[in-house]
Amino acid sequence: MMRTTLDKTTSSNRGHKKRLKHIIPGCRTLTHSYNLLMRSSILDYRRARWPIDWHEAFGRHALLLVEIGFGDGEFLLDLARSRPACNVLGLEISAPSLRKAERKIERMALRNVRLVDATGQEALWALCSPGELDQVYINFPDPWPKAAHEHRRLINDRLLQLLASRMPTGGRLDIASDHAGYVTWIADCLARSPYFESRNGVPYVDRDPRRIQTKYEAKAVAAGRSCAYFKWERNARALANNFDVPEETHMPHVVIRGNLALEQLQAAFTQFECSRDTLHVRFMDLYLSRQHPAAVVEVYLAEEPMEQRLLLGLRRRKSGEWMLYVSDVGFPRASPGVHFAVQCLQRWLFAVGDGLEIVHHNLPSSEL
Ligand SMILES: C[S@@+](CC[C@H](N)C(=O)[O-])C[C@H]1O[C@@H](n2cnc3c(N)ncnc32)[C@H](O)[C@@H]1O
Repeated sequence: MMRTTLDKTTSSNRGHKKRLKHIIPGCRTLTHSYNLLMRSSILDYRRARWPIDWHEAFGRHALLLVEIGFGDGEFLLDLARSRPACNVLGLEISAPSLRKAERKIERMALRNVRLVDATGQEALWALCSPGELDQVYINFPDPWPKAAHEHRRLINDRLLQLLASRMPTGGRLDIASDHAGYVTWIADCLARSPYFESRNGVPYVDRDPRRIQTKYEAKAVAAGRSCAYFKWERNARALANNFDVPEETHMPHVVIRGNLALEQLQAAFTQFECSRDTLHVRFMDLYLSRQHPAAVVEVYLAEEPMEQRLLLGLRRRKSGEWMLYVSDVGFPRASPGVHFAVQCLQRWLFAVGDGLEIVHHNLPSSEL
C-alpha cells in the first residue's frame, strides 16, 4: 500500500518520494512536489500565472460568478449546482474551509466550480482581468465590530473600486450582512461609490427568500437578528484607477566583492524598515548558517495587493564573491517590491561592510 505520510527513514517512502518527482514533471524539490500534490484542485494564487485565463481554466466560455469568503461552501456549491451554464469561482483564506469545499465538490462531481486560496483583494487584483466578473457575492463578511478594527473590514471604498474594475457594466454585486453597524457602513460605501447603482431602488432589502441560507445567515436568523441584502450593479462610469494586474519580472540578485564578516553583520543587525510609495519592507532578523559561509535575512514585504514573507540569502561563492539572492522558500513572486527589498539589503550591507563593490546585478539600474 502506498504510504501517504512523509517518513524520512523508510525505504518504501524513499520510493514514494521518487515516484512523486516523476508524477510532477519539472518540479524542483520534494517539498515542491508535495506542495503541488497536496493542494491539487485548490489554486494558490501566489503560484498561479497572473492573470488567469478563466475561460481556459474552466475549459469553456461562460458567465463568471464569484463568491468571496464562502465559508462552509454551501452557497457556492448551490450556485454551481443551480447555474450549470455558469463558471463559479470561490475565494477563501481559511484552509479548513477550502479543504471542506474541495471534498464536497469532488463528492458532488461538480465541474463548473474552482477554488482559490487567496484574499478577495489578492485574487481580484492579480488573477482577474478587467470586466470579467459577471456577478459577485459577499455573504456575511466578518463584521469586525470594534471601532479599532474597522480598517480590517473587507468592504470599503477601495474594494468597491477594485470590484468595479473587474466587473462589466451591468455586472451584479450582492452583499448580505446581519451586523447593524456593518450594514450602515456598507450602505454608506455603496452610496458613496460612483460605480454602483442599486438594482431595486433601495440600499438593501431585509428578505431574499430565493437564495439558500448560508451558515452565518442561519445563525443570525436563529438568534433573531435581521439581515440586510444589498442588490447593486456596476454602472457604465469609467474608473479613475484600473488596478492593473501586478507586474512580475525576474528574481533579482547582486554579486558583491569584498570582505564581509558574517558575525559582524549579525552583531550589527537590528530590525529596520524601508518604504517607497505604497511599498513597505521590514527586515526582521538575520540568521547565520552553522555549516557554510552563508546567512539569510527574514523579510516581511507589504505591496498591494499582497504580502510576502521572504528569505533573502547571502552566500559566499567558490570565487570568494558574495551572492545576494532571493531564496525560493515560500514560492516568492518576483515583484517590484522584491527588487526593492534586495536593493535595500544591499545598501545596508554596504553601510555595514568595508570596501565592498558590486560585480554584477540584475536590478533595474535606477535601483542601485
Ligand atoms: C463570517 S464568515 C461567513 C462565511 C459564509 N459566507 C457564510 O455566510 O456562512 C466570513 C468568511 O470570510 C472569509 N474571509 C475573511 N476575509 C476574507 C478575505 N479578505 N478574502 C476572502 N475570504 C475572507 C473567512 O475565512 C470566513 O470564511
